[in-house]
Amino acid sequence: MVSRAGRTDVVGVSVPTGLFVGGVWRRAAGAFTVDDPATMHPLAEVADGSVTDALAALDAAHAAQDAWGRTAPRERAEVLRRAFDEVVRRTDDFAAVITAEMGKPLAEARGEVAYGAEFLRWFAEQTAHVHGDFGTAPSGAFHVLTTKRPVGPSYLVIPWNFPLAMGTRKIGAALAAGCTVVLKPAAQTPLTSALLVEVLEAAGVPAGVVNLVPTTDAAAQSAALMADPRLRKVSFTGSTGAGRTLLRQAADQVLRTSMELGGNSPFIVLEDADVDAAVEGAMLAKFRNGGESCVAANRFIVHAAVAEEFTARFVERVEALVPGPGADPTTTIGPLIDARSVEKVDALVQAAVSDGAVVRAGGSRVEGAGYFYRPTVLTDVAPGSRISGEEVFGPVAPITVVGSEDEAVALANATQYGLAAFVYTRDVARALDLGTRIEAGMIGVNRGLVSEAGAPFGGVKQSGLGREGGHVGIEEYLETVYLAVDRS
Ligand code: SIN
Repeated sequence: MVSRAGRTDVVGVSVPTGLFVGGVWRRAAGAFTVDDPATMHPLAEVADGSVTDALAALDAAHAAQDAWGRTAPRERAEVLRRAFDEVVRRTDDFAAVITAEMGKPLAEARGEVAYGAEFLRWFAEQTAHVHGDFGTAPSGAFHVLTTKRPVGPSYLVIPWNFPLAMGTRKIGAALAAGCTVVLKPAAQTPLTSALLVEVLEAAGVPAGVVNLVPTTDAAAQSAALMADPRLRKVSFTGSTGAGRTLLRQAADQVLRTSMELGGNSPFIVLEDADVDAAVEGAMLAKFRNGGESCVAANRFIVHAAVAEEFTARFVERVEALVPGPGADPTTTIGPLIDARSVEKVDALVQAAVSDGAVVRAGGSRVEGAGYFYRPTVLTDVAPGSRISGEEVFGPVAPITVVGSEDEAVALANATQYGLAAFVYTRDVARALDLGTRIEAGMIGVNRGLVSEAGAPFGGVKQSGLGREGGHVGIEEYLETVYLAVDRS
């Protein structure tokens, strides 16, 4: 007998607190607390899914797979389109919940709702455009017919930094392709996912197609699901370390994988750059989401000819940022997600300073309630300093000065990561050339933002495998099957 789950009021928004399995909101044996990172106060108690719950979710996803995969593409598209409309209609509710559990300022949370909703619309539009082709074998003996079919039940593991957009980016593509899913939100931000799943249910997603299992034991849940041969795909967004573990586990069942992992984005300002534009782009590339983004600019590499001008203007802008609770309209930068993040960011800053870096802004945590860190600019950062090699995931901008384009490229590529990069130059031919030399999956040219539902998001080197969004995003959830049709 399944016991039905309840709801809770989160900053004025009613949110389900259970697991969603086979079209039913249910309780779990345990529960965990979700805190507001700005106040450290509890926001809600959420069902803590066990391995048994996760396997029940896979039972439901497996049972629903065949029918969902055969549903007319137009019907799947309309479900996604209705979900898009509803997320947009409920922008204020989603934004309030995102801010409460993740911490970003309300204006940015609204931006995330617009960005996240867009994946539902984009993939609704892709649904009806999945095609195969037809040809003749080179020998002429038979016809070659190709078709696409859904990979099958997919395990989607999303992070806390964009709790709505990372969900819609995966769910939109999976549902469009005809895959059923088990969604695991981050334990810090399960409330946004619960609201999203409720919207999908109301939009007409059939029972079992989307299942939600929040848990505090991600390792046990992932191991159990990935050992089960009914699961056919895992899509993960998170750290490179966790991605490596999942890739090893995926090997046993030879699962399809999409891995969107860590980054160490260089932000290059060349001597012919428009410095005003570079400063504007730097603010966005570094401080969007408080720096808690895998595409955030992690290393500023600035040509000596413009270094002092760029740094002075950048520091001025950074000092004007206002840290505070995201719900306060005067706040322009929210808290970090938890105490561990503050400790990690501070340790990187202090290590850089020990290596000779100069603090031009910030450089310390904000004492008191909430996980706040002062927006920070460091100059004279030694290229070998830990902060140049690790993903900061916080509001810290380390600047290194170089004397040439070649030196900038060499430094940019001196990392195991290759997710995003940013380049500022007025010379289009130079920018295109740099686009072929910088080792990154996404390169912003005279722009501080690359994220876009209609563009392929993903990295090279140890930043991941596969792409999300764009025309190729749906392919991650499709298999190509070929029929050899005899001509005789
Ligand atoms: C991420 O940080 O994982 C994604 C950021 C984005 O989509 O812009």
